[in-house]
This record gives sequence, C-alpha cells and structure tokens, in this order.
Amino acid sequence: MYGEIGLKRYFFKKKKPVALMLALFTGLAFCACGTTVKTAKEPETSLVTVGFSQIGAESDWRLASTSSMQSAFSVTTGYRLVYDDGQQKQENQLKAMREFIDSEVDYIVLDPITETGWDATLSEAKEAGIPVIIVDRQVSVEDDSVYTAWVGSDFSLEGKRACAWLKAYLNSVGYTEAINIAHIQGTAGSSAQIGRSNALTEYAEHEGWNIIAQEDADFVQAKGREVMESMLSEHGDEINVVYCENDSEALGAIEALEASGKTVGSNIAAGEVLVISFDATNEGLKQTLAGKIALDVECNPNYGTVAEQIISDLEKGSSTVHDYYMEESQFSAIKSVSSVSVGANTYNVTVVTDEIIASRNY
Ligand code: AHR
Repeated sequence: MYGEIGLKRYFFKKKKPVALMLALFTGLAFCACGTTVKTAKEPETSLVTVGFSQIGAESDWRLASTSSMQSAFSVTTGYRLVYDDGQQKQENQLKAMREFIDSEVDYIVLDPITETGWDATLSEAKEAGIPVIIVDRQVSVEDDSVYTAWVGSDFSLEGKRACAWLKAYLNSVGYTEAINIAHIQGTAGSSAQIGRSNALTEYAEHEGWNIIAQEDADFVQAKGREVMESMLSEHGDEINVVYCENDSEALGAIEALEASGKTVGSNIAAGEVLVISFDATNEGLKQTLAGKIALDVECNPNYGTVAEQIISDLEKGSSTVHDYYMEESQFSAIKSVSSVSVGANTYNVTVVTDEIIASRNY
C-alpha cells in the first residue's frame, strides 16, 4: 500500500515482553515463598495496545479522523485502542502521552495540535521503547529519531493549490482590480495553519494581493463566524476574498457574511465575496455545489489504515515508511479552471456533483 519513496527499516526495543517476564518471574518467586501476593496475570489477549492522543473534536474533519483510527484499530483487527481526547490543549495531550508511557502501551499514535513542544515527551517514549507514529500534523523536534513514522497531509501544497486556483480563476474572468483578502487562520502553530498560511503569504506577495485582515479561529465554526463578524465591522466594504483554513471556519464565515447582507459567490466584479476553504467535508462540498465556497481543497482524514499498516509492519519486524502523504483532490462548481499548476506538477480541479457529496461520509 505504500509508495516506494522513504522506505526505511526501523529497529526498536519493545519493553513489554521484558516487563512481562519480570512480572511473571516476580509472581513465581512470591508463590514459591508461600506468600498470598497475587501472581502475574496471563495476558488477557494477544491484542496490540495503541494509545491514541487525538487533538479534540473541533470540526467534522476531526471527527472523521477519529472514526478512521477507531475503525483501523479495533479488536477485530487485533488492537486495543486507548483513545484520549486532548480537548484542543497541548498540555492534555502531553499528559495522555505520559499515561500511555506509564501504562506501557505497545505503540503511541500522536496527532500533535502544534508543531513544537514535544521533544521531552517523545524522548521519554523512545527511552521507554515505545514507537510513536505521528498522524495528520507534524512535529518540529531536534532529534527526528524520537518518532518512528508520520502519515498526514501536505498542508503547504494544499495552500499552494488554493492560491494557484485563485490566480487562475482571476485570470479566467479577467479580474484586474484589487484583491483584498480576509484571512481566517487555523490553530496558531499547527502544521495545517503554517502550511496554508505560508502559501497565502507567498502568493499574496507575488501577485500583489492585499491581506487586509488576519486572525485565528482555531478551526471552529463558531469562532469562524465571530472572527468574520469582527473583520466585517472593520473592513466590510473592502473584503472581496475570504481565505478560511478549514470548512468549519468557512461555514461560520458564510453565516456572518450573509447576516451582514453580503452575497457570497464568485462574481467579485459584481460585489460578491469569494470564499476559499480546505477539508472538502460533506457540508463543505454542499456549500461548494451551491457556489458559496468557490474552491474547497481536500484534506484527507482517512489515514487510520496507513497508521495501522505501519504498526503491522513494525510488529512483523518489516521495513515501513517514514513519511506518507495522503492523496488529496480539490473541488469547485466553477468550470473555467480545470487544473492548476504548482511547481512542475499539475492538479486537476474536480467539478463537484451530488454523487461526490453523497459518497462523502464526513
Ligand atoms: O490538521 C487538519 C486540520 O485540522 C483540518 O483541516 C481541520 O478541519 C482540523 O481541525
């Protein structure tokens, strides 16, 4: 299931068998002395225990990523998944990781809320001999050997695809007036925010677009609405493009735009406000088909099977991937831009249909 790139063999020590043998030995020793201390239990099953530290439940996308992990790591597939909801706080995720280490899980899967702040805890996991698989977002650590593999999205490429589409769309309609962008960001310091924001900054500089407002809405719909309201109160007459870093924020922003009397759509010349978004959830694609999201760049949350394959490889002592990028597409109801180029690569823009929406389960 993996591409050929990035194959790497991992050698890791597993603490559990040693701990188990010691426990068995201790239990037997106590028995021999005629004490009443409990003997070590036989392992209840041969399930592989995986501690999963999830960020939270801030968006439909996030719920889909949790489901993907739960389906991939089930008793049926040979796992006991210990799920922890970090409730959008890194301190909760760090606490969960420590608990996983203390309870000697076989593997840890971490979806890191932000890129920094993980060095010490990941080092502890490594010391304890517990391989860590990072999913979705990335970590920025001094020593890459503190984690075993990563699977997730290329957020920078997602952002570049969105911006390349905006550039091509403006060319296709011959729009040459000022582009004034309200930029609603995702959680500050998260890979998804960094990649998508940097792409916009880069294109804005190059294309002469103005980013006239920029604020974090934490990938949450209610905050997307609040942030949009406050941007409208300051720059209501100028904004003609809204760049939201996920669908939840876009849904909130559209609510605010419409409540303020604006028309959301792609005809900027006629005063409509053009919304760009990321994720391509079911609700996001419905808004895309309705023309309220001009472009929705997919962020694929279904990495559970890849994470499971990595752990399965490690269990067998086989080689596995180090970095795995999920396949992603982009959707629009506008037909004038059928593909976009980023660097040497060309990406098709899929025209959204009812069938595509019906097949999207998140
Ligand atoms: O890290 C992926 C991002 O996190 C998704 O775009 C967003 O919906 C989620 O909250």
